[in-house]
Amino acid sequence: MKNENNKKVNLIKSAAVSASAMMVLSGASAAILASESEELVADQPVVDVQAPEEVILETAAEENDPVEAAAEIEVPQETEIYSSTNAPAAEAEEESASVGEESEEPGQAAEAETPEAAAPADPAVPAEPAAPAVSEEAVPEPEAPAVSVKADTSAAAPADNAKAETPAADKEQEDEAYREQYHFSNEQGWSNDPNGMVYFNGTWHLFFQYYPDGVNHGSMSWGHATSTDLVHWTEHEVPDVFKASTDNGMRFHFSGSAVVDKNNTSGFFKEGEQGLVAVWTLAGMPSGASWGSGEFGFQRQCIAYSADGFNWTAPDLGIERVILNADGTTKELTADQKDFFKNVVLAEGSLRTVVRDAEGNITELVNEDPLNNGDFRDPKVFWHEESGQWMMAVAGGPLRFYSSKDLIHWTPEAMQGDIITECPELYYLPVEGTDEYKYVLSEGGRWYQVGDFKEVDGVWTFVPDTVNGPTGDVAARYNMNYAPDAYAAQSFYKEDGRVVMVQWMSNWSYADNSTVRQPDGSQVTLEGIRKMLGEKHNGQFTLMADLSVVRTPEGLRLKQTPVAEYDQMKNLEVKDDIVLDDKSNPLEGIHSQQFQFEIEFAPEKGTEKVVLEVLKNKDYQTTIWYDVNTGILHVDRSKSMAAEQAPADHMQNGTWFKFLEDYTAPVAMTNGKIKLKVFVDNYSVEVYAGNDTIVLTELVFPYKDADLLNLYAVGTPVNATYSFATMDSYRKDNTDMRNLSGTLADAKDQLERGQGNYTDESFKALQDAYKAAFAAAFNPDSTQNSINLANYALTNALTNLRANADKPITVTPEKPTTVTDIYDSTAKPVVSETPAQAVSAASVSSEGTPTAAATGFGMTLATAIGALAGAVFTNRKRREQE
Ligand code: FRU
Repeated sequence: MKNENNKKVNLIKSAAVSASAMMVLSGASAAILASESEELVADQPVVDVQAPEEVILETAAEENDPVEAAAEIEVPQETEIYSSTNAPAAEAEEESASVGEESEEPGQAAEAETPEAAAPADPAVPAEPAAPAVSEEAVPEPEAPAVSVKADTSAAAPADNAKAETPAADKEQEDEAYREQYHFSNEQGWSNDPNGMVYFNGTWHLFFQYYPDGVNHGSMSWGHATSTDLVHWTEHEVPDVFKASTDNGMRFHFSGSAVVDKNNTSGFFKEGEQGLVAVWTLAGMPSGASWGSGEFGFQRQCIAYSADGFNWTAPDLGIERVILNADGTTKELTADQKDFFKNVVLAEGSLRTVVRDAEGNITELVNEDPLNNGDFRDPKVFWHEESGQWMMAVAGGPLRFYSSKDLIHWTPEAMQGDIITECPELYYLPVEGTDEYKYVLSEGGRWYQVGDFKEVDGVWTFVPDTVNGPTGDVAARYNMNYAPDAYAAQSFYKEDGRVVMVQWMSNWSYADNSTVRQPDGSQVTLEGIRKMLGEKHNGQFTLMADLSVVRTPEGLRLKQTPVAEYDQMKNLEVKDDIVLDDKSNPLEGIHSQQFQFEIEFAPEKGTEKVVLEVLKNKDYQTTIWYDVNTGILHVDRSKSMAAEQAPADHMQNGTWFKFLEDYTAPVAMTNGKIKLKVFVDNYSVEVYAGNDTIVLTELVFPYKDADLLNLYAVGTPVNATYSFATMDSYRKDNTDMRNLSGTLADAKDQLERGQGNYTDESFKALQDAYKAAFAAAFNPDSTQNSINLANYALTNALTNLRANADKPITVTPEKPTTVTDIYDSTAKPVVSETPAQAVSAASVSSEGTPTAAATGFGMTLATAIGALAGAVFTNRKRREQE
């Protein structure tokens, strides 16, 4: 006798290509099902990847048709433009689960006789020697240890100096080929969906799907990290209630949310006090039951509360439940089983709530899931002001809404089985520039619908705005992310209405390895991104984004703006107005794998494309380009690495899906202009366009020397304004170059006014100081001291320039040798017959990099940076090889 869920899995497996069916279950649940069901694994050990031809054709056509992609009319769920994350995941991930790594789990090992996990792949990326230790000869300052200034490259190859400074954290990181630096990632193990996100007492709490003991999806806990600024994160112990455990059975903590119970509606807190209540899915069976027997539902919504966000209690709610056997008879729970289910607020159909009359006779067995569908997970709870109660969106499969006054007792509202998704979320968002609000339904962060939430036939229902399609009005459904590496979106519960959202930055198709059956019947293990990430961690999250709704010429759209808090991570920043043509590369010579870049340009008649190549070496690059003729934005990772080293192609929606792909999105011009925001971190590229209504998130695994940039236009040259900023790491100390950035900009202004306004001598001095300061900024051996000194010297040159336009430059009696010399001795006249000399002597290592600096200012600012940076980089490379 099989439970409905099991049937569904088998159905999916044999149907193999029905995208709509596959959306019912993704890898995570399949993982559990597979590991819990011998029968499943034994019956069908691998996915049959043969797909009917029509499906392949249909999907391929959609993928290639930009007009289709741009169309207002939304694609039905079955035919996603490129295979969405949840649907395709089902197939490969079922296999990923059934072949393995989960069988390492204590609770599962007995149940699932699974083959051994595939051997980890060879590292895909050739290692490069670590950067040498910092030379501090020129500016010795023992109490302030050296910091690598080149956050951008040290991210990819942690330098020895980093190791020396923060032994505990960085020593381990040193072995990692890749680690995001300003995107949050869990320190070790696997993570997927963001969970339990809530802002409380000045702290952002981010929980997440977490398996610390391996880099695969396993028996899930909720990892926990906090931040006070959305950027700097600290990880904490997993609270006990969220730890996978084998007490009285196996508990898998799946996705869910948390709220601030401000008015203590739950009664869990002291009178007049508030606290947090988490509502999430527990999956897995209590002891004494086995999944194959069909006796148990296994996905249920549970709650726990906390007064501080760190210590959590799972309450015994005293709700009586019984097991409903498949033949309609019931079975009482044992004491252990009662304990196992003590904090369940909503259970799937095989666990029924008991209603008794005054005499104690059972009068009703309530099925809390009117849709009676075993995919019943990922509750997102929010306060619904209009009806003065809590609402829950829950899906996993079909979408359901429930309401509650106390977070404990829930009443079914709309059952919207036509919307099938994991991780549903309903945002209540202001329409920018109006007093209006709209509801936006996120379907797992892959798609969204705009509409309202209102009472229809007495139940609260999400009512999508519709568009007129060929066969009548259809729900308008839009891409939430046009590239594949954003899934399971969730926003922080925050009482002031600010909605900040984050996604798991990965894709079930290739986050882990998977095994499939080839058309010829042989089995093959498809290696996912873990072969690049190694054995320490496999999990990272997108940028945090503020959500709102904007009216565009095409209609209302969701706007996702990276939170302003990231601005504090900008370090060395340069901005310029330029004319782009097919020869210029204003970013020439800059070396960075960790930056933010913004550009606005106005294509001219005859401009064909504007291209930004990032993470580039002589053979590989990721290319972000706007095709003016088609209006299509490309974020092309197809040449980001060697094909043989990339993750294997995977099956999605019945067709093969390549990791090395070009992803596209239609972007209309606003007032004749295109504005792009590009965020590159250690192994990710995120691009925002169309006033932040278009987002593409991609993982890329650049080689360590792929840190060049190239910016140009094809066709008629275009005017452009751009800014480039290296981004700090929240994981290590950063050298602060923001003051220097400001001074450089100031100096640049003065220099651009031209020598005629100033004396030759002071102008020349400023030029020299400027060059030296840039050299210092891009010198990986620079320290905070040397940067401060460079800034100081440049400031001084500026002061001299302005104050002594026609006088000789102040000459210092002694050349300072340390920053302390300068700063401690305010009385001393400062710097130097030529400030640049002081800087070069004091700020950089004995390699003398400033001598290789750009010459003259006949070049643009950025070219000067490029030349300087290039020189510095070359020196570094040479030293590494010595
Ligand atoms: C989505 C998901 C959720 C589930 C979780 C388990 O990625 O499959 O539906 O709760 O992952 O890790």
